[in-house]
Amino acid sequence: MSLFDQINTAGNSNEDATKEKHLPTISVSKTDTGRYLVHIDVGQGKHPNEMDHWIQWAELRVNGLFIGRAEFSAKIMEPVADFVVNIESPCQISALIRCNKHGLWESSTSIG
Ligand SMILES: [Fe+2]
Repeated sequence: MSLFDQINTAGNSNEDATKEKHLPTISVSKTDTGRYLVHIDVGQGKHPNEMDHWIQWAELRVNGLFIGRAEFSAKIMEPVADFVVNIESPCQISALIRCNKHGLWESSTSIG
């Protein structure tokens, strides 16, 4: 099965096979106004962003529902995104990203 035939996760893919880091990391903190700041970092600086190989977008989902998306061109050197959201705890927060060469990758975390 190729990387383009599935949503790649830590559980079903060998990220080392791509020689780059694709799994997004998710950091969640509560703001002073009671909202949540969700920070998504794709690759932690270990994925190339070149004219023929880059992270195209990062999408935030809460309990599986679409919340927002940040789109990137190959000029973006650090594909990161911050979303301030009004969500109820407990919930599951997921980040889905797409690399034009290596497909879809997803990480999830829970709060509450
Ligand atoms: Fe890639």
